[in-house]
Amino acid sequence: MLLSDNEFQNIVSYVKGKYGINLSQKRTLISGRLENYLLRNGYSSYGEYFQRVEQNPGGAEAANLINVLTTNHTYFMREFIHFEFMQKYILPWIQETQKNKKKDVRIWSAASSTGEEPYMIQMVLHDYFQMEQGWDTQILATDISTEVLKKAKSGIYLAEQLQPVPDKWRKRYFHAVDSEQYQVNEEIRKKIVFRQFNLMQEIPFRGMFHVVFLRNVMIYFEEETKRDLLNRIYEHMAEGGYLFIGTTESVDKSAVRFQYVQPSIYRKV
Ligand SMILES: C[S@@+](CC[C@H](N)C(=O)[O-])C[C@H]1O[C@@H](n2cnc3c(N)ncnc32)[C@H](O)[C@@H]1O
Repeated sequence: MLLSDNEFQNIVSYVKGKYGINLSQKRTLISGRLENYLLRNGYSSYGEYFQRVEQNPGGAEAANLINVLTTNHTYFMREFIHFEFMQKYILPWIQETQKNKKKDVRIWSAASSTGEEPYMIQMVLHDYFQMEQGWDTQILATDISTEVLKKAKSGIYLAEQLQPVPDKWRKRYFHAVDSEQYQVNEEIRKKIVFRQFNLMQEIPFRGMFHVVFLRNVMIYFEEETKRDLLNRIYEHMAEGGYLFIGTTESVDKSAVRFQYVQPSIYRKV
């Protein structure tokens, strides 16, 4: 099936306008990921499919488009330096500042994909606060893709995906579902609220976050989109709160109010 210039441009500008993702250099990715779906579902052209998407932006085809076009690759223990940093510097800071307050830990995994990232955050929190009474360690995990959120909520992973996970966590926080799959234990799963959220929209969550994980999502965002997003997130963070971005990502330091702490780590001061 041929993806015409016009059809390609329409899809690119729709996805960029609505989700911030710039796929103008990704023609093969678009046709590669959509073609099979279109053929299986009886469409005769990309144009016909795209018309359906545009006619009903809240409908199943629009959700499918973004499910198919997002890159959701993630894995347990990714960029572990952030979890070490959190354990060493951020949790003691939260513990200190929240001591005489609500004992509320507010963390947002803002592009959580299939859940590995928020589950690891929760494991670090569980290890850290297990001996302490009264702490609310429920965290928020969001993504635009309904497909990855479904998987994330189930907390079920193939045995090979658990390979990077240290033994002590594997034993403590997972149980076998069958000979090939493991599930994150209920005590960890119930402490994560998964929601669909488009980072291009107004942030509707109440409360100021102590930590935001915004890792490996801005790769296809343009500078202006990144700047705007980072400034909106800044407004929803507690004074002293930390932001993590992917270790291979960059931020124009002069365009954001965050203070640079070290590569991929920023702070609201
Ligand atoms: C590569 S994954 C990152 C997962 C994890 N944070 C990590 O670092 O391993 C990027 C995720 O960003 C999500 N995403 C892309 N654009 C988004 C948007 N506009 N709003 C919310 N999520 C978005 C994708 O669906 C995808 O699951």
